[in-house]
Amino acid sequence: MEENLYCFILGRNPTLAVAEITKVLNGKIAELIWVSQRVMAITLKEKLDQPKKLIEKIYGTTKIVEILAEIKNKNFKQALSLLLGNADFRRKLCGEKTRKFLFGLSIYNLNAEEKFFKSLVRQSTRLANTIKKSLSEDGLRNGFVKTEKGEVSSGSIKKNKLLEFGADFVLITGKNETFVGKTIAIQEFEEYEKRNYQRPARNLKSGIMPIKLARIMINLAQAKENEPVLDPFCGDATILQELVLLGFKQIIGFDKNEKAVKAAKENLVWLFGQYPNLEKEKIRLQVLAQDATSISTVLSPASISAIISEPYLGPRLEKPPSPEEIRMIFRELAELYLKFFQQAFLVLKPNGKIVIIFPCFQLNKNLVFLEILEQIKKSGFVLESAFPLEFQPFPAVKITARNSILYEKENQILIREILIFRKAV
Ligand SMILES: C[S@@+](CC[C@H](N)C(=O)[O-])C[C@H]1O[C@@H](n2cnc3c(N)ncnc32)[C@H](O)[C@@H]1O
Repeated sequence: MEENLYCFILGRNPTLAVAEITKVLNGKIAELIWVSQRVMAITLKEKLDQPKKLIEKIYGTTKIVEILAEIKNKNFKQALSLLLGNADFRRKLCGEKTRKFLFGLSIYNLNAEEKFFKSLVRQSTRLANTIKKSLSEDGLRNGFVKTEKGEVSSGSIKKNKLLEFGADFVLITGKNETFVGKTIAIQEFEEYEKRNYQRPARNLKSGIMPIKLARIMINLAQAKENEPVLDPFCGDATILQELVLLGFKQIIGFDKNEKAVKAAKENLVWLFGQYPNLEKEKIRLQVLAQDATSISTVLSPASISAIISEPYLGPRLEKPPSPEEIRMIFRELAELYLKFFQQAFLVLKPNGKIVIIFPCFQLNKNLVFLEILEQIKKSGFVLESAFPLEFQPFPAVKITARNSILYEKENQILIREILIFRKAV
């Protein structure tokens, strides 16, 4: 089996998750094996030494799984028993645990036939019993966490302390073989749900940006922590908060609305209260009332490394807009965005990035985009792809014809479109 083989279990938007992983692991990926709706399988050039630190940074991934063996899909159960019969392998799987060992069994599909994958899920209790039996043969007192639909959730892994005192065993079904491994890091949802729901100032009117999305967008910008970064439409500070938590040291937030600036400051004070380990005195954080269409009046030329932002996306809509309404919304937004891009060109360093959200609507099953890419290119920007070319043939990776990624939520009229621009030198 290949060395340093890892599977990243992907969250709700696999395309964004994969884009984030590739940007963050920049240069460390040896080979991309496959991407499915739930799993990205890759080999790394070196062993992943700090999986917990990595998953604390990336928010599109729910689990990182280390693969320890593979078994052919034919005669699967027999081969699994044989594998578990090997004491060395059992040690690899369980470590040197001696107290009562609780384990879970999660099964994900990479690119096996759906029929085979489903048959393993159906048999998961039986498979868990096979594992239980082989662990008992080692004298290890053990039990397993019952699962629904063949997946142990991050919440259950945390509650049952599986990573500390037990294990979440994982089977990943591939075309001809199934990978056998264990979870080595999980996403701690409570941690960021707290920021979604408990921060004091939440402006429901201008729409709450999901924390996950803010975090992923920052990671897509690939700025270094000591470089100056800006959110010129900062609203309640969702992006600013994530920049602080990711360790950025020079952060600027603007919003033209005084109330938003007050809310942003309130949320940031709350954040520092919640995370006392943050070294507040080492962070230069400025939040000002400022129009995004005149930022060059307050920022030095070529001083900013990256802009990450969700601008104003148009009025709040109760029902899907008509073609005429879309035209009106887009006319107003085109003017705002283009003025902002001209200003951004002045304040960004050469090669500086803009990771930004555009609004997009669905009209009679067609997507309607804000058509300003040509003008933006003329102002000196290059539209970057979120992926290296070899990622694009995977059906789970969905990129629009204009090289952007969509972020949709159920029952939302507006679709967010994520684009990455680079200031051409
Ligand atoms: C969609 S909200 C941003 C939400 C933000 N990402 C958050 O999570 O709180 C857009 C923000 O842009 C601000 N805004 C609108 N036009 C602006 C302009 N010309 N310059 C600066 N801010 C502007 C609005 O006041 C609003 O707070």
